[in-house]
Amino acid sequence: MNIVVMGAGAIGSLFGALLAKKNTVVLVGRAPHTTRIQQQGLTITGKTRLRVNVPTVETTKEITVSPDLILLTVKSYDTETASAQVRHLLHNQTMVVSLQNGLDNIEKIERYIKKEHLLAGVTTHGALFSNPGVIAHTGKGKTILGETDGRPSERLQRLVDLFNEAGVETIMSTNITGEIWRKAIVNSSINPLTAFLGCKNRYLLENPLLGKLVERVCTESSMIAKAKGIQVSAQEMILRTKEVIQETAENSTSMLQSIQQGKRTEIDSINGML
Ligand code: PAF
Repeated sequence: MNIVVMGAGAIGSLFGALLAKKNTVVLVGRAPHTTRIQQQGLTITGKTRLRVNVPTVETTKEITVSPDLILLTVKSYDTETASAQVRHLLHNQTMVVSLQNGLDNIEKIERYIKKEHLLAGVTTHGALFSNPGVIAHTGKGKTILGETDGRPSERLQRLVDLFNEAGVETIMSTNITGEIWRKAIVNSSINPLTAFLGCKNRYLLENPLLGKLVERVCTESSMIAKAKGIQVSAQEMILRTKEVIQETAENSTSMLQSIQQGKRTEIDSINGML
């Protein structure tokens, strides 16, 4: 399959590297990460050890393949720009999959890309940007994919198989909207606290006061989701959030990484939307 990964950050590069084992993958990212990958290949360390040569570009104008799949892994505040930039690459059958944090990506993408191309996913893999050209896979999580209208489809099954064949443990969901909300509740309970305190995920469970704070944020976010008609319970979400913290104990959240790199965070699309 021809795959374009739009957003070669930590998660995008990890998925790109894994998918590149059996597919033609082009990464779209920023220098110096892109230039280092062009010179030395893309290296994944940690839970996955891999070095792959992947074509890497800085703009979609440089892409010459016709993608069957576009994986959107940009930060939520870049979703509209990225959607506008990939639009010209689409053919009739191209699937565009949002694998992002936040509650507002689908509606932003739909402003530029027709609904029929669009699928969505969530992942709890932890990945850390180590150096240009090097990504640390810090936590093996799970990935869920679904059609935005919830129907099970042949293309969704193909996509789930493709991810699993690449070593990305993936299941299909008939309620991806619910999963996006669940992921946002998890993110709302972990990311801002780690970003504010400058700590790795595991510290949230090592410090009992922070453990309680995680529970309080998680409960509040779950109540908001419930009021919006999402079938969740605070109890279930607290357990899920703690599980994700354990699975990604050695990770620095994407929000902490943004702060450390002096970049904008996704707070508006997560806690802001809630
Ligand atoms: O945003 C993140 O960092 C990730 O979604 C997660 C799963 C919380 C791991 O750090």
